[in-house]
Parts: sequence; C-alpha cells; structure tokens
Amino acid sequence: MKSVLSERKTLHPHSIERRELPAAAGRAVRELASEISTTLDVTLDDPAAATRTLTHPLLIEQIDARVGELPAEVRHAMRPPATAAGATIVGRLPLTDNEFGPTPPSWRDAARWSGVPAIRAHSFQFDLVMLLLARSAGEPFGWYGQQDGRLVNNIVPAAGHEHEQSGASSKTLLSPHTEDAFHPERAHLLMLGCLRNPDLVATTVSSVRRVELSAAQRALLSTPTLPILPDISYGDGHERYSAAPIPTLWSAAGPDEQTLRYDPAYTPIDGADPEFRTAYAHLTAELERVCVTAALAPGEVLLVDNDVAVHGRVPFAARYDGTDRWLKRVNIRLPERPRRAEEADENGYGQRIVAPFRAAGALPVERGTHEWDVVPNDRGTLEHS
Ligand SMILES: [Fe+2]
Repeated sequence: MKSVLSERKTLHPHSIERRELPAAAGRAVRELASEISTTLDVTLDDPAAATRTLTHPLLIEQIDARVGELPAEVRHAMRPPATAAGATIVGRLPLTDNEFGPTPPSWRDAARWSGVPAIRAHSFQFDLVMLLLARSAGEPFGWYGQQDGRLVNNIVPAAGHEHEQSGASSKTLLSPHTEDAFHPERAHLLMLGCLRNPDLVATTVSSVRRVELSAAQRALLSTPTLPILPDISYGDGHERYSAAPIPTLWSAAGPDEQTLRYDPAYTPIDGADPEFRTAYAHLTAELERVCVTAALAPGEVLLVDNDVAVHGRVPFAARYDGTDRWLKRVNIRLPERPRRAEEADENGYGQRIVAPFRAAGALPVERGTHEWDVVPNDRGTLEHS
C-alpha cells in the first residue's frame, strides 16, 4: 500500500486540469480591459469611484456590453473544471512584475491604491481583467460584509494576522474549506488570479470525487446533522438566526455528481453522535490524502469548483517588503447550476451578496431595508483564500 506521501507525489502536479489560453487571447483580454478603463476615465466625473467596489453601473454595463468581443477561446478556457480534480489552472495572462507596483500591506490598501492615478493604470485594469474572465464564466458577485462589497478581492499577507484562519495569514496552514460554506448563495466557482508569488506558495485543493468512503459513511454524511456557522469575522450577530442542520455531502444532479459543503473550523462537531463524528473525521483524513497543490505563477488563474473541491493554503513566511504573494479573487455564480432545493429556506445568517450582474428581475433588494440586516464589518482581514 502506498504511503500518503507517495500518493501525493503521484497526484502532483499532473492531477489538476490545466488549460492554456492562447497568447493572442490573453492579449485580447488585457487590451479590452485597457479600453474599458480608458472609456470610464473619459466618461466618469470621478473615475476613482469606479475602483472602490467595481460595482459602478457604467463599469458593469461596459463589461456586459463588451465581454462578447473576446475570442471564443477565453470563454472555453473559463468553463467550469471538467475533471474529478474539481480545479483547473488556466495559463496564462501576459503581465510583468513591475507594472503593478509593490504588494500592498492589506486589502484596504490594495483597494485604495487602485484609485491612485499613478498606480491605477495597471492595478485597476487587472481588476477589469478579472471581471472579464469571471463574466466569461458566469456572474461575478461580492459580499456586503467582505472587503467593502468589492467584486474583486485582494489576497495579501497582513502583518499581525500571521496565525489566523484567514486569507491575510501566512505562518499557519489555511485549512481546507468550502468558500462561504455557511451560506446558500456561496460561489459555484472560485477564481484566484496570481499577480505575484515569488516563493511559489501553494494553494491546496482536495476533491470530494477522489475520496473513498463506505456506503454507510456516505449515508451519514448526507444526512442533515450539523450547521456550518459564519466565521468570527462576520461578527457575533449570527446568534439571532436559527442554525439549521445541513448535509456535508449532497448532490443535486445524480449519484455520480457528488458534492460537498465543508468547513470543519465552523462546524460544531460536538453536537453530533460518535458515528457521525467518526465518518466526518474519515472524510477529513480522505480530503487530506487526496490533497493536491497549485503553486500559481504570475498570470495564472486557478478555478476551483466550490461544490466539488475544498481549498486552503500552505504556511509561508511573509516578507512585508512589497514583494509578497498577491492574488486577486472573484466569486462566481453559475445561474444554470442547481443546488439543493432545501437551501432556499436557509437564512444565510443575515449575510447578503452584491450581485450587479444578475438579471434585473432577480436583483436582490437594497441592504438596510430589513431589520435583520447586519452591519458590514471588517471581514476582509479574516477571510479565507
Ligand atoms: Fe477560501
């Protein structure tokens, strides 16, 4: 029998699907982003306003009106991961290290700097690149409580947060998790674009379609048993909401289409009986066994199917000298993909999405109109990546 180590070695790096974006297609994305940026600069009284959340109506309109101009290869490359790995590396967009300036010390600085004219040229344009790619895949969206509702999030290590279970951390292992597992409107696809990664810090990916479980374990884990709670960065308002048990394993599309919803750090496992806890622990061990790593290079984009694979990050030593790892992240909804019908009844613990690309008839109501709305908080420094 193979050891875990040799098994991992066998799986890495060939087990993550890889797609090459033709050079001309990569250039076309960057050129279109540059054109849209120029158009906005000419059109808007305050162009920096468009960079704050990237939800300015004219920006959304431009993305929607022009994304169809991109070569067909872009849409093809951005389709959901097609293998059991549940993840795909798309390579690669043309960029150079010196065009974005130093890695910002926090997501707030990254967002602010993209509005600074001297830096804005490239940083803002790359946010538009991310939106064009994400829009080629589905509907990009954000969270009111995350990085001020920005549609493109910046993932950089932040001093003082080294040991958190968060995207701002570095020294600690970021445990595998489903992105925003607690919420029924969590992303179908998670997109991570790499601007800089000098130490080849790896993102980890574990697919539920590679784990081995007994029929009894699958049955237990498919039974709604425990809730998944919002992480602490959402504040403490979630106690006002009922915490409904959900299944860890689920499938909306047939027995061969196994999917999961998993975030052990926010799952109150002590509330389950010993049999369930044993099955959950076995799943955890299996996700560790099948874990593969993706050390993204600049210009590469990682697509994670958030229903099929969990993701995390290996520990690393941050430099805090402007050369650190810098990723851009976008949540994507696939309108054609079903979820369990029962999820429609979940309250989402009061957290709301920012969904400007959703069809007009389906736009969420404005925030602040319900008594259960929570105050957006500084989730950005604590989020997963
Ligand atoms: Fe994450």
